[in-house]
Amino acid sequence: MHDSHQRANAAHKPRRTPSSKPAPPASSSSYYDYDERPSRSRKNSEFYRQDRIPASRPSPNPVHELTSDERSVQVSTRISHLLPILALLLLFSLALLIISFKSRTDLRNRINTLSSERENLIERLDSFRELNERRDQDLAELQSQVAELQKKLDEYEDPYSPNDTTGDESAVTDEISSTLLPGVPQLKSPVMEVPTRKTPVTCTAVQADYLRKLNDYAMLADETPDQRKDLSKPLIINGLPIVSKLHWVDESYAPGENLEARAAFQMMSQDAAKEGITLIAFSGYRGYVDQHLVFQQWHSTDLQASRYSAREGQSEHQTGLAFDINQEARMFYSSPATEWLWNNAYKYGFILRYPENKEHITGYVFEPWHYRYVGEKVARDFGPRSNLTLEEYLGLVNQKMIDKIDNSALDQIEARLAEQRLKKQ
Ligand code: DAL
Ligand code: ZN
Repeated sequence: MHDSHQRANAAHKPRRTPSSKPAPPASSSSYYDYDERPSRSRKNSEFYRQDRIPASRPSPNPVHELTSDERSVQVSTRISHLLPILALLLLFSLALLIISFKSRTDLRNRINTLSSERENLIERLDSFRELNERRDQDLAELQSQVAELQKKLDEYEDPYSPNDTTGDESAVTDEISSTLLPGVPQLKSPVMEVPTRKTPVTCTAVQADYLRKLNDYAMLADETPDQRKDLSKPLIINGLPIVSKLHWVDESYAPGENLEARAAFQMMSQDAAKEGITLIAFSGYRGYVDQHLVFQQWHSTDLQASRYSAREGQSEHQTGLAFDINQEARMFYSSPATEWLWNNAYKYGFILRYPENKEHITGYVFEPWHYRYVGEKVARDFGPRSNLTLEEYLGLVNQKMIDKIDNSALDQIEARLAEQRLKKQ
């Protein structure tokens, strides 16, 4: 059937020989010239499409019916042309898909990382906030402690700033104390807790003036040695041993701590404790050699040390009747303990030995911590809050020495110092 069809078609087709020219057209209107350029109107005519077959010639069948085979060949040809493009498109889409999938995965990972970092940061921020709050609380607590300490410090006036301890070595041992009042809890000796003074005393211009004046006094005391022949015993007036800048003793005088005085102190401290006042006798009996060491220690850093520290043989501490008392092992000018003592010590036989403004008489600056045992009877003569000196009481005031010092100037300086002290309180 295929062959017969082809044959039939071939019968219809004009046989063309490449060498034979077609016959010219019969009329001018249908003139045919091979070289003639086609007119515009004819540009798309059959002339071109029919492979320059003259119009007069019977044209081949213009609509060539393709067989199904041809068509399928044609289709498969076209498809085979399209296949690489399709494959490329497929590959391209696949690549795009992979890229987008990968970038989505990357993005998700990045988001996860960032959110976990965010969680961490929030956690750290919370812990910092907590730390900050705790720090603020600590700071507030410390500030209130500092304020409290400052308040306590303000209550005290330190006479020999910055360090006001003598470094005394007291002979008051726990052993002696415990034999005095058996069964009564004894105060622990604070001797070992007394720090040694290392820095020189600093003073204001007013104090310097005062010191200059008082130095005259100290020098006069040095120039006026005790004329008594036997210095192994102290001068005794009205039964009271006197040891001072003017009344000396030598090394052989070593009575130790006076037991009656110690017992009186114990009674006094127990009564004070009932009123919430702690009394510490931080320095008691000191022998001649001890006193020498103590004075040298002070004097090595302060040429005016004789204002507050006795030379060996001139210290009341050598009698065993004197105690330096305060609520701490320090020499505070003003404290609840010094106030209590000034009001009550006389009841127990003690007097304030170096009162304020009496340096020209006693030879020593105001020492609110230094108490001397004189017995209850004499102490009652002094009474509470007394500024009387033992020298005045016993008629031992040395006029020669007082004359040596310009008392009016001293009084003025004392008044100014007292004013300064009041302002500080
Ligand atoms: N502080 C007194 C005066 C003494 O050393 O005895
Ligand atoms: Zn003393």
